[in-house]
Amino acid sequence: MPGNRVRRGTVGIKDVAEQAGVSLGTVSNVLNRPDTVAEATRRRVLAVIERLGYVRSETARQLRAGRSRMLALLVLDLANPFFSELARGAQQAAREAGLAVMVCTSAGDPAQEARYLDMFAEQRVRGVLVTPTDATRPHLRALRSRGISFVVADRAWSGDEACSVSVDDVEGGRLAVRHLLAAGHRRIAYVSGSPHLAQSRDRHRGALDALDEARVAREQLTVLEARRFDVASGREAGARLVAAADRPTAVFCANDLLALGVLQTLFAAGVRVPDDIALVGYDDIEFAAGAAVPLTSVRQPSFRIGRTAAELLIEETDGRPDAHPHRQIVFRPELVVRTSSLGARPGA
Ligand code: RIB
Repeated sequence: MPGNRVRRGTVGIKDVAEQAGVSLGTVSNVLNRPDTVAEATRRRVLAVIERLGYVRSETARQLRAGRSRMLALLVLDLANPFFSELARGAQQAAREAGLAVMVCTSAGDPAQEARYLDMFAEQRVRGVLVTPTDATRPHLRALRSRGISFVVADRAWSGDEACSVSVDDVEGGRLAVRHLLAAGHRRIAYVSGSPHLAQSRDRHRGALDALDEARVAREQLTVLEARRFDVASGREAGARLVAAADRPTAVFCANDLLALGVLQTLFAAGVRVPDDIALVGYDDIEFAAGAAVPLTSVRQPSFRIGRTAAELLIEETDGRPDAHPHRQIVFRPELVVRTSSLGARPGA
C-alpha cells in the first residue's frame, strides 16, 4: 500500500480509495452507508481518512444530492431569550431530520436582512426560517424566485407565498390590558417596541380592543414608543414614566426585556411595583419569573414556534412540493399572572 502522503487540504476521495486499496464506491459507502461495508474494510478506510485528513466536500455532496443539509434562521435579536428559545426549537427539529441550522441576526435592519437573504441564496441553503422586519416581503419573494423556500416565524404571513408560525399578538395585547382593567386600572401606559414590527402594532391594537370592550376611552392608554425591544429602551421608557406629571397606575410593555428595563428604573427611583404601578410584559422569557418582582407576562410558546416552523420548512423541502400546502399556524397566547400586577387597587 503506497505510503506517500498527500498534502492536507487537497485530499480527495480518490486519494483515500488508492491509499486504502478500495474502489471510490466503497469509500462513498463507508461515508454514507457504513452498514453495507465489511467491518475490516470500513476500519481500514476510516484509518486512511484520518491519516490523510480527508474532509468530505459539502458543496460536492450538495451538487450530487441536489440539496443542502443546512437550514438558515434569521432572527431579529439573539440577545432576546425569546429568539434563542425559538432557535433551540428549530435546531431540535433540524437535528432529528439530520440537518443543521445556521443562525444570523438582522437587528431589525432591513438592509442587513437583505444581505443575509442574498448570502443564504448564494450558499444554496436548504431553506430559510425568518422573523422579518416590515420591509422583507420583496426580499423573500426574490429568495423564492431563486429556488429557496422560506417559512416566516413569529408573525403571520398573508397570502399563499409561504408557511408561517406565530402567536395571535392582538389577543395577547387584549389579555394584558383586560387583566389591568379588571384590577381597576384606568390610566395605563403601553411601552411599544419598534413601530416597524407588526408584533408591536398588533399588541397595541389588542390593548385598544380591551379598552373598547370595557367602554374605557382610548385616551386612557398612553403610548411610550421605545426605540428597540431591549432592556436599555425599557430603562429609557421607565425614566419617562418616573418623570410623568400624571403617572399611569399600570404599564403594559411590548416584551419582557422592555418590562425588565422599566422595572429597573422604577426600582431605582423608589417607585414600587406593583403597589405604586402595576407592570405586565410579553413573551414570558425565563427571567420573567425570576425578576426582582416576578413579572406578569403574556406567554408565547417560543420553543414550539421555532420547532414547528422548522418542521414545516423541512416538509416543504423534502422533495415533494405537491405534498406541502402552505399553512399559517397561529398559537394562542396565555397570560401568566405574577406579583408585578397584583397590587393595591389604583388610587387606594
Ligand atoms: O422581537 C421583539 C419581540 O417580538 C420579541 O420579544 C417577541 O415578543 C417577538 O414576538
